Amino acid sequence: MKSAAALIVLAACGVPAGNAPAPVREAPPAWQARPAGGTHAIDPGVRADHDLLDARGCASCHAAIVDEWSKSRHALAWTNGIFQREYSARPQAWCVNCHAPLATQQTNLDGTHAAQGVDCATCHVRAGKLVSAQRGATSPHDTIADASFGTPAFCADCHQFTFPVLDEHGAATAMTRHPMQTTVASFAAGPFARERDGCMTCHGSKHGHAFAGAHDRSMREAAVEVTWCRRDGSLDVRVENAAAGHSVPTGDIHRHMYLRVWRSSAPEAMFQAFFGRRFEPAADGGKHTVWDSTIAPGDTKRFDIGVASLRGDDDEPVNLELVYVFIENEFPRGQAVPERIDPTASIVRRRTSVTELASCAAR
Ligand code: HEC
Ligand code: HEC
Ligand code: HEC
Ligand code: HEC
Ligand code: HEC
Repeated sequence: MKSAAALIVLAACGVPAGNAPAPVREAPPAWQARPAGGTHAIDPGVRADHDLLDARGCASCHAAIVDEWSKSRHALAWTNGIFQREYSARPQAWCVNCHAPLATQQTNLDGTHAAQGVDCATCHVRAGKLVSAQRGATSPHDTIADASFGTPAFCADCHQFTFPVLDEHGAATAMTRHPMQTTVASFAAGPFARERDGCMTCHGSKHGHAFAGAHDRSMREAAVEVTWCRRDGSLDVRVENAAAGHSVPTGDIHRHMYLRVWRSSAPEAMFQAFFGRRFEPAADGGKHTVWDSTIAPGDTKRFDIGVASLRGDDDEPVNLELVYVFIENEFPRGQAVPERIDPTASIVRRRTSVTELASCAAR
């Protein structure tokens, strides 16, 4: 169960449940219950033609929220090209439980309801009622007010799970114990775990529903801080996870970054570091992590790069780039890449000669 899973996460990371940022329950509240790992669709408790299921209908009173949500990755969860590129190559029923999660969406995956992806009802409707952290004084809704709404344990329903065991239709028959997405666990183990507003500390927005992440340039650029200086014959390059509450990158297994340092005349001598995860098949049907160089919140990765190793002329400028890659391979040759998807984004690009670089001793 979701809250139980969140409890295990917190306990395993050594964060006492009493210090958790939000109430974590022994058993999930009845309104949000579905087993951990997206093994089942979410049941909103109303028929497919009910008013509560159509985000467009909410716009007459919540226009700003609907507008903000409609530009979010949540609204694009089913239709976006990066997802569809992977899903259409191998359509598996399990994927749908988080990308068009409502049972009422799944009866017609080509319909307008499915196209709303993670929509208002996905988060806010259970057992035929609206759910929220509190009920406003002027609210016309018969709302279930529950303080655990919007807490990290709530987000964990989709943002914390292990590899599944899938049957021939791609439906999950069981979950393994091998982590697949660990955003909430890396948050719970880190310095932001006690923030009162949990994930919303940084993912809150003007109207609360933008949920900007790695696809948002300013979030991406805020997340990591790259510094470099020279010491004797070396460059000291540091990549710090300065502003994310969880590891960077996080989320989908394919997300990764490269740090590259090189001189244009000598690309063959380029220094490169990889930040991401690699997996190998495990005996129980999932995959276990064999490499994890993602950067935990607050952590810094340090690289000592001999200037001579970069070759080129002494006075030739050195280039530095930190690239974020959204898919498994930044050069997606041989596979159809839908329009509107950009497989990579540059986070930092610099170019300077070694002599102009600050000395590390001066810092
Ligand atoms: C990913 C989950 C999620 C989705 C999708 C979502 N919401 Fe919310 N909503 C939240 C959270 C989290 C809060 C803040 C709860 C709190 O702590 O008060 C919230 C709060 C609200 C509130 C309370 C007022 C406010 O601004 O805080 C309204 C109204 C609301 N949402 C409407 C909507 C509508 C309409 C949609 C669809 C366009 C929608 N929500 C989609 C998670 C979601
Ligand atoms: C007729 C206008 C109207 C419509 C349509 C409407 N709402 Fe609301 N809603 C309100 C008002 C008014 C509030 C109270 C706002 C406040 O006090 O800040 C509210 C509050 C909420 C809250 C916070 C909990 C609460 O009860 O105060 C949520 C969540 C919410 N609405 C979601 C939705 C969703 C989802 C839809 C579409 C399915 C929707 N609303 C359609 C008027 C409406
Ligand atoms: C019902 C499932 C579900 C719930 C609940 C949910 N999310 Fe999401 N979220 C998703 C999916 C699926 C995506 C990816 C959409 C895509 O890009 O394909 C996503 C994307 C995001 C992104 C954007 C990532 C990016 O790459 O830019 C952020 C940030 C985010 N969610 C935060 C939250 C937070 C915070 C909560 C809890 C308040 C939450 N989500 C609750 C399913 C969910
Ligand atoms: C201290 C601020 C902070 C907190 C707290 C935080 N995030 Fe983030 N998050 C960020 C930043 C900055 C990014 C953009 C950088 C990146 O993509 O890693 C991000 C990116 C994301 C993404 C994009 C996926 C990806 O691959 O990067 C998701 C999903 C996400 N956050 C979910 C969550 C959830 C769920 C929580 C709560 C458990 C949470 N965040 C708490 C700052 C925060
Ligand atoms: C338990 C929930 C869950 C299931 C099941 C799930 N995903 Fe996701 N998926 C997410 C969340 C949450 C994100 C957002 C994290 C991020 O932005 O990296 C995401 C992001 C993605 C992305 C990156 C989208 C983007 O905008 O960059 C792809 C691609 C993707 N999922 C493919 C799949 C496929 C294919 C399956 C089935 C094999 C699947 N997902 C099953 C929750 C899920």
